[in-house]
Amino acid sequence: MNQRVLTGVTTTGTPHLGNYVGAIRPAVAASREPDVESFLFLADYHALIKCDDPARVARSRLKIAATWLACGLDPERVTFYRQSDIPEIPELNWLLSCVTSKGLMNRAHAYKAAADANQAQGAEEDAGVTLGLFCYPVLMAADILMFNAHRVPVGRDQVQHIEMARDIAARFNQLYGQGRDLFVLPQAQIDEALATLPGLDGRKMSKSYDNTLPLFHGGAKLLRETVSRIVTDSRRPGEPKDPEGSALVMIHDAVATADQRAAFHADLRAGVAWGEAKARTTAVLEGHLAPMRDRYEALIARPDELEDILLHGARKARAVASPFLQTLRDAVGLGRLIDQGGSPVSRATRTLGSADKLASFKQYREGDGRFYFKLTAFDGAVLLQSQGFDGGRDAGQWVKRIRSEGLSAAQAAPVSLGIGADWAQVQAALLALQAQDAQG
Ligand code: TRP
Repeated sequence: MNQRVLTGVTTTGTPHLGNYVGAIRPAVAASREPDVESFLFLADYHALIKCDDPARVARSRLKIAATWLACGLDPERVTFYRQSDIPEIPELNWLLSCVTSKGLMNRAHAYKAAADANQAQGAEEDAGVTLGLFCYPVLMAADILMFNAHRVPVGRDQVQHIEMARDIAARFNQLYGQGRDLFVLPQAQIDEALATLPGLDGRKMSKSYDNTLPLFHGGAKLLRETVSRIVTDSRRPGEPKDPEGSALVMIHDAVATADQRAAFHADLRAGVAWGEAKARTTAVLEGHLAPMRDRYEALIARPDELEDILLHGARKARAVASPFLQTLRDAVGLGRLIDQGGSPVSRATRTLGSADKLASFKQYREGDGRFYFKLTAFDGAVLLQSQGFDGGRDAGQWVKRIRSEGLSAAQAAPVSLGIGADWAQVQAALLALQAQDAQG
């Protein structure tokens, strides 16, 4: 089965080069790996916890969406969406809230930091703490569990939240799963090899140190000015310089080609002046960033196109979230009162009805001598019917592909929908089978 990889980006602030090197570029590269199904979303509900200025929230969302797309994220390959376009997420948030103990939230780092700061100042422990901040790990668990992600690439500061998501998922499975796992237990993925980029002063590049290099903001001019402020040692022109440990060199190397890097290091050892080294770094950065910056400017200028891309992503995400949430509603006792009707909705509900009654694929040969397959819901209703194949292997290969790749493969296959069936039901059935494959 495909690995589901999911991560969220809180939509506050303006992306800098450290975000690009540390998060955006590796995530875009990872989304191109085979056998990975990527979910990437703008965590704009989370932004409200930190920021109550509507104009800033809106602006930052636009900038961050444009940045990811400009950096090469392919919205056809990746399910790229805004959290606030998925109403299933806050609904799941509530279901999860009801199985999460308050004590678990008391231990969350973000809350504890706020409480400790209050205590240190002699203020009341919870001064300025909103329920949004306090319950933030539950919303994050909902983000992850909604899509049954296996892997969640995050920074170290977020690892505790992924552990909490696992705890909450396990509790929910145990309470409501009736012996099967409704939720996958997600794993945090921290890339140890990923060097953190230094900022202008040599400390980690971070907004909170005010030492960042803008990614697109301010254009070539601001880029050049900012590079000129990178701190170097005081070796004079002609004196040999050590490329190791220099912030300027690390920033240069983060985007340079192998040849550019080697030449740069050799020239520094041979005594090239820091001024010249900065000019070269600016040129290398500009060469790498300029084409992306052009795409970024074009996207920012057409918010309607960006909106379309995000709504397309929301549709893809909801095709997964909506049938799954229905299963979860059923599991907690909020399903429909009548489970017997023949309407497509109740059939979709029942497709995932219980562990032993899953949907199934059947392969068979007809009187015409050709090979066929079909996907049926547990009650025998036909969800997908294939065309005839000359060989049994062809039919078998499609079944295998649909089973492992899911809805997109089903939609590409030579099949038609069963009478009264729809793609949401197919999706629900395939998810149920995938969940079973994952367990088996
Ligand atoms: N809290 C994360 C951060 O600040 C962003 C985030 C929200 C997230 N929901 C998520 C990351 C779900 C991974 C998965 O970086």
